[in-house]
Amino acid sequence: MCGIVGAVAKRNVVPVMLEGLKRLEYRGYDSCGIALCTEGHLERSRSTSRVAELEKQVNGRHLSGFLGIAHTRWATHGAPTTDNAHPHFSGERIALVHNGIIENHAVLRAELEAKGYVFSSQTDTEVIAHLIDSLYQGDLLKAVQSAVTRLRGAFAIAVICRDEPQRMVGARQGSPLVVGIGENEHFLASDALALAGTTDRIVYLEEGDTVDISLNDCHIYDAQGRPAPREVRVVSVYAGVSELGPYRHFMQKEIFEQPRAISDTLQGLAGISPELFGDGALPILQQTDSILILACGTSYYAGLTAKYWMESIARIPVEVEIASEYRYRDSVPSPNRLVVTISQSGETADTLAALRHARDLGMNRSLTICNVATSAMVRECALSYITRAGVEIGVASTKAFTTQLTALFLLSLVIAKIRGRLTPEQEAAHMKSLRHLPVAVSAVLALEPQIIAWAEDFSRHNDALFLGRGIHYPIALEGALKLKEISYIHAEAYPAGELKHGPLALVTDKMPVVTIAPNDDLLEKLKSNMQEVRARGGQLYVFADSDTRIMSQEGIHVIRMPENYGQLSPILHVIPLQLLAYHTALVRGTDVDKPRNLAKSVTVE
Ligand code: G6P
Repeated sequence: MCGIVGAVAKRNVVPVMLEGLKRLEYRGYDSCGIALCTEGHLERSRSTSRVAELEKQVNGRHLSGFLGIAHTRWATHGAPTTDNAHPHFSGERIALVHNGIIENHAVLRAELEAKGYVFSSQTDTEVIAHLIDSLYQGDLLKAVQSAVTRLRGAFAIAVICRDEPQRMVGARQGSPLVVGIGENEHFLASDALALAGTTDRIVYLEEGDTVDISLNDCHIYDAQGRPAPREVRVVSVYAGVSELGPYRHFMQKEIFEQPRAISDTLQGLAGISPELFGDGALPILQQTDSILILACGTSYYAGLTAKYWMESIARIPVEVEIASEYRYRDSVPSPNRLVVTISQSGETADTLAALRHARDLGMNRSLTICNVATSAMVRECALSYITRAGVEIGVASTKAFTTQLTALFLLSLVIAKIRGRLTPEQEAAHMKSLRHLPVAVSAVLALEPQIIAWAEDFSRHNDALFLGRGIHYPIALEGALKLKEISYIHAEAYPAGELKHGPLALVTDKMPVVTIAPNDDLLEKLKSNMQEVRARGGQLYVFADSDTRIMSQEGIHVIRMPENYGQLSPILHVIPLQLLAYHTALVRGTDVDKPRNLAKSVTVE
């Protein structure tokens, strides 16, 4: 989704900003642009193509400057055209980039048009530029501070003014913004990753903050305009993060990083204890009588999987809701319910809004499973478990998902223990399985050559069905999501028992049917469902546990999973589905890491 980079320095800031935009490309965008304050005027270059194209444009025009802002835009208000691309100008004086959505843009636009401002885009963003200009009286900070009081919705902005060529002002409300501290230079960015290689000293702005940066100064103010000291953190985790190494795509790299990501997520695990989720976890979890999981996308499927674990291992009732639905639904709160959010980024707008909605309904006990320790989600939840997947660049989530599952399994065990449902023997057995998990994942990754052979077949189809039962049904959903996200093949997942209630009508010899076949209590039922498919000529592609005795034969293609992994089986079974989606997309030649229309971190509603 949208990305911001800004810099004020004693050197030409164009290379820093282009590098920053490249680092933000993974978030998904459809246009980009850069504005510079140079020799007393504002210059701008924008493109509806990739950052590399913008770079050519900028170099071709020999643009340079000591003060600049840049942006990648993911269209919300107005098509991805050059006119709608950021930075937006107000006259020749103000230039601005914006992440988020301004909900009251129509009212403000009418007001500003009445004052004589002429709009050159359909965006909600342009109103902010004109609003700041209308309030400008020689002090950019003051103009921004009074403008933000008029804005409704979510925003992170970076603003420069032709008349103050060594100053940049930023503000955040609902969308992330960080300050990078350099030697006699300062930066703004929507994600610290954009500044990797430029500075590792980062300040995370808080909700309602405004910031005023120049060469040597950085002043931060809270929502009331009071000076607000914020901690400078040294963020070094990003070193080398943008290197592909031997891989062709970040998605492939991240699939293969899963053994390491899971072992990092389990690092230091000595036993099952509530403190894994924070110091105050025990009393909160003791009082919990049910769980509400809120999430979006792949994280939602992690939640659906966790429901099976929590209900069976901890015997606690669990509801899992899509955050964008829950936040607007008339639901029944329960005071002793623990609200669990799951989010890779910790900044997904709908998940944050759903968490706040639950809190407004009186459900104050919250826990998040999140991959970004500095995110809004972690700040807003009482308890947390930080997955240590490392930065995930590919839009299609892979290592974030399996580390979320790992953390959710731990949570199920902790709740089970508190509720007296985990014997020491069971705990020891689970610990052993968890410790061995990275090795088990590595063994599944070794199936890649067999999966490549299947990908050729899949690439020729326009539809696919995914079947799973029980705890592997959410894994089938995740497999179908992966395939559609990056190969653009229409894919649907069903619990296999539902086949005859509709989807069987779609099955012909042209329909590949991916089947997840663990050796569990539902295996015989699943085999009957497979026969239903075969009887209609459907081609089955089965990932079968080694002890299932499902054999390859006419119309049934089988890849054997190295071992049956009991309750943790979903973590292993999702991996071949990730690889299948990846290799099918490769054959089809799609942009694997940046699939069309999608964004990595969805910070708008
Ligand atoms: C986007 C991403 C998905 C992700 C979802 C939720 O749609 O493309 O990969 O699952 O957002 O994101 P979160 O950061 O909250 O897990």
